[in-house]
Amino acid sequence: MDEAARVVDADDVVEGETLLFTVRDDDGDLGEAFCTRLSDDTVVAYRNYCQHWTDVHLDNGDGARVTNGEVWCQKHGATFQLDTGYCDFGPCEGSVMESVDVVVADGGVYLADDEYDFEHRGPSGVDSDAGTGGGRIDFTGN
Ligand code: FES
Repeated sequence: MDEAARVVDADDVVEGETLLFTVRDDDGDLGEAFCTRLSDDTVVAYRNYCQHWTDVHLDNGDGARVTNGEVWCQKHGATFQLDTGYCDFGPCEGSVMESVDVVVADGGVYLADDEYDFEHRGPSGVDSDAGTGGGRIDFTGN
């Protein structure tokens, strides 16, 4: 595996918690993502913004709220299934979080998404870094 793409030791990704990291897209822009472990031991990752207001982060750097396999948006209470990314409750119900491809190998979690390069662990340091370019545009385009 490409060590430059190693996000974290796999043992550090645990069920019920999110781990924040920063990626760089093809345009050189920084964005945030988080990874977590599912109950079946799979590690998944998503971009770190709500589908309701895309400038709202789900993980503010100290871990998102996760219960029963779902991550919560603490702004208006939307919940997203971590296995599918699907929002099953809240103002953006029916939307889907943007997934980020990761693989587990050699005891680590590696970024394996053609759209992004791994930058560093933790927040991006950019105020609003949503994939849509920020702003309060919800998943319906409103
Ligand atoms: S900003 Fe996330 S539910 Fe409203």
